[in-house]
Amino acid sequence: DWKMDSFVETSIQTLRERIGNGKVLCALSGGVDSSVAAVLLSKAVGKQLTCVFVDHGLLRKNEGDEVEEVFGPNGPYDLNFIRVNAQKRFYEKLAGAVEPEDKRKIIGEEFIRVFEEEAQKIGAVDFLVQGTIYPDVIESGLGKSAVIKSHHNVGGLPDYVDFKEIVEPLRLLFKDEVRAAGRELGIPEKLISRQPFPGPGLAIRIIGEVTEDKVRMLQDADAIYREEIAKADIPNKPDQYFAALTNMRSVGVMGDERTYDYAVALRAVTTTDFMTAEFAELPWELIGRVSSRIVNEVKNVNRVLYDCTGKPPATIEFE
Ligand code: XMP
Repeated sequence: DWKMDSFVETSIQTLRERIGNGKVLCALSGGVDSSVAAVLLSKAVGKQLTCVFVDHGLLRKNEGDEVEEVFGPNGPYDLNFIRVNAQKRFYEKLAGAVEPEDKRKIIGEEFIRVFEEEAQKIGAVDFLVQGTIYPDVIESGLGKSAVIKSHHNVGGLPDYVDFKEIVEPLRLLFKDEVRAAGRELGIPEKLISRQPFPGPGLAIRIIGEVTEDKVRMLQDADAIYREEIAKADIPNKPDQYFAALTNMRSVGVMGDERTYDYAVALRAVTTTDFMTAEFAELPWELIGRVSSRIVNEVKNVNRVLYDCTGKPPATIEFE
């Protein structure tokens, strides 16, 4: 792609000139935007860049390791990578919290605390990288995602790290252009074509209290669902799909035993802007296969439900 080719080259050149010998810090989430921003910066200034990846224990199955494979010391890029394994901290803070907005607030605050601690270890930072893209710029202050991003992800200007200037290398790009730039930079397709994943992660896909055990159940169920959709021969994959863990327990049978276990809900939607959405009509045979794998392979789950609600009145996420 000649256009992205020149975007990438020009950006690297411009960033190099602007940053000089400066020290650069980037919060890496593993999402498309922060990944592409990080790689651009690493191509421009190499080891002057430090990426901090906070694993809050609410990522999808194996996701933390996948991010580390790409950005860590064994990956293709020459940058400083810090993975903070903060799982326990987040689970402890979340214990007892049941309200969706309380959970978001706890996660957002703990994220800031962890990131702040790491930034202090690094010392005086000259430039802070933000993965802001064009739709974030035009939305600013309006849509839900902008509000959310300002206190959790990249987007707003954090006042909890000392830095001199902000760098937003993707500010003029639309999402598909960010993806094209990512491909140009050799970022693995798996990371580039990732579906949207909320900052608070699986915490808002577990209705009610979050526990380590529930996270494990949901990660396993969700991995099965995504694996089967990836393998399935369906013309158009839904725009967003995931499993959620309801807090409903119900009676079942296994062999001669009565069980009293959790129900997993499967969500799949088609949408263009994520403001409205229709539930996706997945083939029954696919849903059936996912269901039997989940109840057979995931301990403490004995029922699988399919969410056939649009947005509105439902939201895409469950919380
Ligand atoms: P809803 O559930 O509001 O989701 O229909 C619309 C889109 O936004 C994502 N989403 C979030 N993203 N932090 C985020 O970074 C959040 O708290 C959050 N809540 C929802 C959701 O995944 C969907 O793509």
